[in-house]
Amino acid sequence: MEASARTRHARELFAPLGPTYDRYARLLSFGQDPRWRSFLVSRIPAEARRVLDVASGTAAVAIELARADGGRAVVGVDQSKEMLAAGRERVERAGLSDRIELRESRAEELPFADAEFDAVTFTYLLRYVDDVPATMRELARVVRPGGTVAMLEFGLSHGIWRPLWELYVRIGLPAAGAVVSPGWGDVGRFLGPSIREFWRQWPEPRLLDTWRAAGLTEVHARRMSLGGGIVVWGRRS
Ligand SMILES: C[S@@+](CC[C@H](N)C(=O)[O-])C[C@H]1O[C@@H](n2cnc3c(N)ncnc32)[C@H](O)[C@@H]1O
Repeated sequence: MEASARTRHARELFAPLGPTYDRYARLLSFGQDPRWRSFLVSRIPAEARRVLDVASGTAAVAIELARADGGRAVVGVDQSKEMLAAGRERVERAGLSDRIELRESRAEELPFADAEFDAVTFTYLLRYVDDVPATMRELARVVRPGGTVAMLEFGLSHGIWRPLWELYVRIGLPAAGAVVSPGWGDVGRFLGPSIREFWRQWPEPRLLDTWRAAGLTEVHARRMSLGGGIVVWGRRS
């Protein structure tokens, strides 16, 4: 099937970022990104022995999942060869090659059987897919009943913090990105409108309903860092 414009854009956006992704993702989120990932990983119970991390990119979440529990096996998938190449190097440096497998795959068509995993995580994914409900169903499909699904996404600050958020994504982020490299300049310009548009289409109650419609129950959301990040998690019914 031919890739959609959104998919092609996501591939082009991430292709040049692999080698510098971790350093600048942290910097551009004011150091908050690792804190959000740790909270995401803390949602996954210790008994989850086999975990799938979707949109794994450079494997930051996959590595944290493996480190959180010594016996856990993690499979990370991403549609970007370049991000995965940086991820493989990072996994090797972390000495976790025997416990983390990275594979090229799209979230919309996971190459796994139903209920194959005890848990699924995904990070900054849903803004890049064409069909959010169908993708949620596909993510839930590969988790066993009772297993956990958890995601991290950028949020939209509200109230008095919103003008500051707007200032950052309209001016600070594009300017800082452009200083780093042309690729990060593209990301800096893209992120604000992408986050704003996502939450316009998928306000939190609607997004959580989509999780429930995908077969997830006990769905919770936690906004972090003045709303700049949001973690959602639930259990497969
Ligand atoms: C912002 S990065 C996040 C990477 C990593 N999860 C992290 O926390 O650092 C988003 C990732 O989503 C991947 N991605 C976007 N759309 C995807 C899709 N439809 N299927 C699989 N991966 C996708 C991109 O290639 C990119 O690596």
